[in-house]
Amino acid sequence: MTTTLITGASKGLGRETARRLVEAGHDVYVAARDSERGRTAARELGCRFVELDVLDDGSVAAAVEEVGRESGGLDVLVNNAGITGGTVAAATTTADHVQRVHSTNVLGVVRVTHAFLPLLLRSSSPAVVNVSSGLGSFAVMTDAASPWSAWKGLSYASSKAALNMLTVQYAKNFPQVVVAMATAGADGPTGGFFDASGRAPGDGRTRRGARSGGTVFRRGRRLARPAEVCCGQR
Ligand SMILES: NC(=O)c1ccc[n+]([C@@H]2O[C@H](COP(=O)([O-])OP(=O)(O)OC[C@H]3O[C@@H](n4cnc5c(N)ncnc54)[C@H](OP(=O)(O)O)[C@@H]3O)[C@@H](O)[C@H]2O)c1
Repeated sequence: MTTTLITGASKGLGRETARRLVEAGHDVYVAARDSERGRTAARELGCRFVELDVLDDGSVAAAVEEVGRESGGLDVLVNNAGITGGTVAAATTTADHVQRVHSTNVLGVVRVTHAFLPLLLRSSSPAVVNVSSGLGSFAVMTDAASPWSAWKGLSYASSKAALNMLTVQYAKNFPQVVVAMATAGADGPTGGFFDASGRAPGDGRTRRGARSGGTVFRRGRRLARPAEVCCGQR
């Protein structure tokens, strides 16, 4: 059985992803920093619970230890936990605000991915899925025809742009791991990982055949759409 851990899974898209992956037959860890809410979600969904705050090295290390002890390894890591930081005008956005949002959305992903890599590398078919946003896409934000290009804000969009590049770099550096970017629509949770067109814009292929803006990065292997990774059988 595929063992999957989803960060920030006590509510929102993370919780819905957990629900769908349980349906698809995965053994799912709902990882959440709020243990009461996380335990409740896990119980309701038929998942395991593990406490995990993506901002805290000790919490992440304890989660790795628990998953390793219970499951022996990890097949799929979904880096879903994220914050928007609210709507703050550029002129009043401080470095502290940007740092707070990047701490969760960027450094949190590195902290969790780095810590779980040894367990992932025990899997015969490891995958990391980073939940990004169309607001982090240069193609979307500079396309005057896109309604999202009117969106303004420094912290969140820049954090997701950074996450997109982390995804590309992890994919290059760990070709044995499927490293994917799932992109949620910017108009609210839908339970899926597509934008309105069914595929996030800006998915121009790079030299190596990787894509950006919502599909999946694999080297030497078939490209997959997010749903296949996030919500389907692996
Ligand atoms: N909803 C959208 O329209 C949309 C669009 C594009 C991208 N996204 C991305 O999709 C992901 C999920 O978004 P959502 O809409 O489902 O948001 P949400 O309902 O606010 O859920 C976010 C989850 O992240 C958790 N989280 C935040 N900081 C954390 C930390 N330090 N450690 C562990 N967990 C933490 C939250 O836990 P607490 O309850 O403890 O705060 C919560 O469970 C995010 O990465 C978001 O950027 C969402």
